[in-house]
Amino acid sequence: MSGRATVSAPANIAFVKYWGARDLARAIPYHPSISMTLETCRSLTTVEARSDLEHDQVWRADDDGTLSAAPESFAARAVRHLDAIRARSGRRERFRVATRNSFPAAAGLASSASGFAALAVAAARALGLPAATDPRELSVLARLSGSGSASRSVLGGYVEWPAPGAETGESEEAPAWQLAPASHWELSCVVALLETGPKDVSSLDGHRRAPTSPHFARRLERVPERLEAVRRAIRERDLETLGPVLETEAIELHAVAMTSVPPIFYWRPATLAVLARVRELRSEGISAYSTMDAGANVHVICPPEAEPQVAAALAAVPGVQGILRDRVGTGPREEAMDLLEGA
Ligand code: PMV
Repeated sequence: MSGRATVSAPANIAFVKYWGARDLARAIPYHPSISMTLETCRSLTTVEARSDLEHDQVWRADDDGTLSAAPESFAARAVRHLDAIRARSGRRERFRVATRNSFPAAAGLASSASGFAALAVAAARALGLPAATDPRELSVLARLSGSGSASRSVLGGYVEWPAPGAETGESEEAPAWQLAPASHWELSCVVALLETGPKDVSSLDGHRRAPTSPHFARRLERVPERLEAVRRAIRERDLETLGPVLETEAIELHAVAMTSVPPIFYWRPATLAVLARVRELRSEGISAYSTMDAGANVHVICPPEAEPQVAAALAAVPGVQGILRDRVGTGPREEAMDLLEGA
């Protein structure tokens, strides 16, 4: 038998960050995280499940439809993810996979989140699994990739991924769930691109090293009150409460990274310039707050009416190579396109 599905899944930007894993292989975090799902930064993936293949095949699709072998590291991770999906669903089919991103991969723009969310949802659909229509199960399938943030990208809007453990009462599955749909609060996310190539140190290495930072234990003490503030700010659509927490979270993630052993420096000189410009925008009366994932690029969260001004201001900062304008989005969707066509 064979089944084919094409799915696009979005990246997300974390408000309270997942940084440091209790168990890296199973992506078990120390604490919950909360993110906003984006709309236009997406991965598009076609998966075909086949009983007559001996090995999975993973392709990168170009915009003009040509397929080339996916980079070795992504292909190996995708095959491990597909192995885990097969093991969980009790299926034996092999897959042909073609994928592409609408944005630069591996540059701190959550390409692993969108990429593995798209792969999980498309594989579940290609196999015709009941899980394909169950967001909780899709979240678990996406996390089997080893990318914890992928478990949040299967849902739209504002999403919390709980941490398993006795103190939280969560089982090890700990699927992400939606705090509020995208329609609850329209926020924009303007990304200042400072670097579009792959980063030097992967998030996985960052998670591994995080507990070696002397600031990590202190961070764990502070996260619960931030989670509570972010949940409340989302509920009340209160950007003035949310914004300062976003900025503190991002700076702390990078402070932990820079003081890990060995240290990780994701920032570039222009990162500081963009952060300063965002503070300046606030002093000019524009409600805009910055955050960063594991990379040099800066995401600026603002109301939609401020987006044109924020984008223009960031584009003028020396060192900014480009601007992406995105917003809160509704999550993965099935697409009519077929990236494996002609393969
Ligand atoms: O899901 P991973 O292993 O790619 O890690 C994501 C790490 C951050 O993007 C920096 C934070 C987050 O919560 O998304």
